Amino acid sequence: MATLVDEVAAPRRRFFRPTWAEVDLAALVGNLRRLRAKMPSKTLVMFVVKANAYGHGAAECARAAQAARAADWLGVSSVEEGVALREAGLKLPILVLGSLYPFESVLAAVAHALTPVAASLESARRVAEVALRLRRSINIHVKVDTGMGRIGVRPEAAPALVRQLADLRAVRVQGIYTHLACGEDDAAFTAAQLKAFRGVVSVLSREGLRPPLVHAANSAGALRHPSSRFDMIRPGLAVYGLYPGFDPVLTLKSKIVFLKTVAKGAAVSYGATWRARRPTRVATLPIGYGDGYSRALSNRAEVLIGGRRCPVVGRVTMDQTMVDVTGAPRSRVGDDAVLIGAQGGERIEAGELSRLCGTIPYETATAISSRVPRVGVAG
Ligand SMILES: Cc1ncc(COP(=O)(O)O)c(C=O)c1O
Repeated sequence: MATLVDEVAAPRRRFFRPTWAEVDLAALVGNLRRLRAKMPSKTLVMFVVKANAYGHGAAECARAAQAARAADWLGVSSVEEGVALREAGLKLPILVLGSLYPFESVLAAVAHALTPVAASLESARRVAEVALRLRRSINIHVKVDTGMGRIGVRPEAAPALVRQLADLRAVRVQGIYTHLACGEDDAAFTAAQLKAFRGVVSVLSREGLRPPLVHAANSAGALRHPSSRFDMIRPGLAVYGLYPGFDPVLTLKSKIVFLKTVAKGAAVSYGATWRARRPTRVATLPIGYGDGYSRALSNRAEVLIGGRRCPVVGRVTMDQTMVDVTGAPRSRVGDDAVLIGAQGGERIEAGELSRLCGTIPYETATAISSRVPRVGVAG
């Protein structure tokens, strides 16, 4: 029989504090397949897993996509993110979407079989230098800024850049891409971006320099603007089910760890911003803004307990949040609380919390901090 000493010496449980995020990898793969089915059959899919797969756990999500052959490429924002995926055993080609600086990072990218982006003549030259030093050819994708205003060469300058690179045998322009700034809400702006991009691609095609992979579409582009699909799409949001018509992948959960009834007039949490109007059952959840559950949700959000929507009362603190569970009278210490996701017939979407915080689901999901364990579930 195991003694207490054995138990203490036993390998550490992954986590004790009952706050975690369940990631439904089957839903994620299903979303990738649904998206692919909506595209022309030859369209490749670059699954964007930057920022820890929008908070969903990059290695696990990428592995699920790779194992199901549901993605052809992975997209990350930095060399560090790409290296972490290589170390986790991912074999798919990986594009580092961000601008590579300092230029030594090009060497690290190439050493880990990551594909760098040339967003300027200078960065392209640095890639060429690395290729010459290594005596091997390096694939790159050229980034064209058609209106996002972040990184990239202007459309007017793009053909010249590709021509110069074509002369350097050390560098192979495998791809050329742009990013849409208003794919979700401004069709005219998107059309202008795509027109500028198509102009660049036509010039290159006429000169026999069209790179094999032309890409522009994020989720909204792929779904709302068919002319943005080209050879490959680069979805993130839809794959995580944060876009209408796709299944949510992440459920943020906690449990009641403390329960009490407060008297009429009693205050709860910092600043005493909430007072009980009647005797109120208040549950404490071990989750707070240190976990990415925003303080802006104080006195505004709801949490699912016992299949009911229960209001957050008082300020969300760094580690704990209080909820009025008077409407869920059977609740007990140890009961599950769902902060994002479904319980019973109810659902709280990341979008709902985002609206309350004046932000977007991208930020709500990526804000879930590293101290929240991600647990893969089969669906
Ligand atoms: C260059 C690039 N491509 C694709 C995406 C994926 O966009 P979405 O999550 O809207 O599908 C992003 C995300 O911000 C991006 O920065």
